[in-house]
Amino acid sequence: MRTQVGIVGAGPAGLLLAQMLHQRGIDAVVLEARSRAHVESRIRAGLLEQGAVETMDEAGVAGRLHRDGLVHHGLQLRFGGQGHRVDLSGLTGGKVVTIYGQQEAVKDMIAIRLAAGLPLHFEVDDVAVHDIATARPRITWRQDGQDRALDCDVIAGCDGFHGICRPSIPPAALTVFDRAYPFAWLGILSRSPPMSEELVYARHADGFALATMRSRSVSRLYLQCAPDEDLSAWSDDRIWSALRRRLGDTLEEGPILQKGVTAMRSFVAEPMRHGRLFLAGDAAHIVPPTGAKGMNLAIADVRVLVCALEAFFAGRGEALMDAYSATCLDRVWKVQRFSWWMTQLLHRYDDHDAFEERVRMAELDYLAGSTAALTTLAENYVGLPYAV
Ligand code: APR
Ligand code: PHB
Repeated sequence: MRTQVGIVGAGPAGLLLAQMLHQRGIDAVVLEARSRAHVESRIRAGLLEQGAVETMDEAGVAGRLHRDGLVHHGLQLRFGGQGHRVDLSGLTGGKVVTIYGQQEAVKDMIAIRLAAGLPLHFEVDDVAVHDIATARPRITWRQDGQDRALDCDVIAGCDGFHGICRPSIPPAALTVFDRAYPFAWLGILSRSPPMSEELVYARHADGFALATMRSRSVSRLYLQCAPDEDLSAWSDDRIWSALRRRLGDTLEEGPILQKGVTAMRSFVAEPMRHGRLFLAGDAAHIVPPTGAKGMNLAIADVRVLVCALEAFFAGRGEALMDAYSATCLDRVWKVQRFSWWMTQLLHRYDDHDAFEERVRMAELDYLAGSTAALTTLAENYVGLPYAV
């Protein structure tokens, strides 16, 4: 078998890349380790920057997103027991963000690809990439008990943080930046209406909490917990009372549909390319979810990669492929900064450094009262401009 672009991983990065290449007449094969049911039901974050929605529109995958997505013009910051509205649209010349579950976007892109009869293989085992430093890289895997191989011009490593593509790059060729945080998020999905029209990010003496949503009748709620938190110690009652203390009594309870713990880390691997292997999305970088940037960063990488591959396959040379990593990393680091900043500002640190604590309180107070500071938050939150 042969194709132009072999794509490892059918998350937002791999699926969007495949679709945008298809629009440009470039062939791709997508290989996914898990089952279709698994990737379609995996609950992840769900906030899209304005530019991410526009990108999905241009890619022709935003039909249901426009019907079911919830458009937000602002958010609420809550600290010292009081709410402070951040007018995202007013501060950014009318930009908005959209709430739409990541797995819904994934479902839409899978359905579109399969309906078009384009190659997307689920439940493939033992995926490995070979000869990545040559002009004829290869992917091998096992499927239905058989060994398979795919010759490619280029391989896109879209296989997330735990994938095989990044570890296939010689360690000496990569520089890794990694920061673990001393806390995690316990997240629930609940059949209950959102506590307010807009997201509420709360800083509380007990720890951070976030009230977000998936629809007008389903809430998504998070609370700061220990990195090794034992979920079985959290009865539904304990979760609701912790959330109400942090978010306020107006929070309505409902049946909990799902619960899980999300680790928090900041991670970047540089460069995002080795020979003919290009990393995109979580395969190259992870952000803590406080800034809601994971899926948005993946989409930004894909835009840059599509542009570079389009030029390459049109015979316009490798200059954009050579620039891929630096172009992506320029924006990645700005988004890392924002995600780290939101995270450290809003979480409780148990090592209790009284000086830092006071500085954080002062920063929040300054933020709430300064249009300049709020504008900085808003322009990062709705999404920094794309390079291409
Ligand atoms: N072979 C094939 N597929 C693999 C392999 C492998 N060896 N390892 C992992 N995968 C698949 C995973 O099962 C997953 O479906 O690659 C896909 C990677 O998808 P994501 O983890 O969703 O990563 P990405 O597409 O970069 O999207 C980034 O996902 O984790 C969130 O917060 C993150 O929102 C961000 C988004
Ligand atoms: C979500 O809706 O899951 C969500 C929203 C904003 C965040 C993180 C997660 O910062």
